[in-house]
Amino acid sequence: MPTFFVNQARVDIAASVPADTPLLWILRDNLNLTGTKYGCGIAQCGACTVHLDGKPARSCVVPLSAIKTGVEVTTIEGLQTREAKAVQAAWEKLDVPQCGYCQSGQVMSAAALLAQKKSPTDADIDAAMAGNVCRCATYVRIRAAIKEAAGAVVKAGGSGARELQLAHGDAVKPSVSGDDSRAVLA
Ligand code: FES
Ligand code: FES
Repeated sequence: MPTFFVNQARVDIAASVPADTPLLWILRDNLNLTGTKYGCGIAQCGACTVHLDGKPARSCVVPLSAIKTGVEVTTIEGLQTREAKAVQAAWEKLDVPQCGYCQSGQVMSAAALLAQKKSPTDADIDAAMAGNVCRCATYVRIRAAIKEAAGAVVKAGGSGARELQLAHGDAVKPSVSGDDSRAVLA
């Protein structure tokens, strides 16, 4: 029974949940964290991007069996770092989204980039965001928003990446049961 954290809340997975269940199903169908989107299901679009221990990952192709005990999963609902808040503010300021479907994945990738590089170049941005597809072609505004967010973080004085994060285990989230699993797979 793997135990990991989703947005700092502990999640226990019942042994009866199939090991090949994608993390995306657990997030959306069992934990009702529907900000993470399903697009392609084959790691090609980035709509399902979450962070695993701070690094971007495509949750549609991460099976439960690949999630080690204690791993921190962060979804768009749980982003609390200074970089993430700066990204979200820049997205709003520059009115980045059109239909919005891809945008939570875009924000997750952008926040992970800024956590790694305070002042990313165009090449850094292109490399980090290459796997996030936007059918509305908001790419120009995405790049501008990342630069805007990077400037805001630098101006505010440093990364402070984890300063707003809470301690583990304060709130214990619902266990994911075999019954839930069947609902996912139905
Ligand atoms: S739904 Fe996961 S990358 Fe497209
Ligand atoms: S805003 Fe519509 S797909 Fe990106």
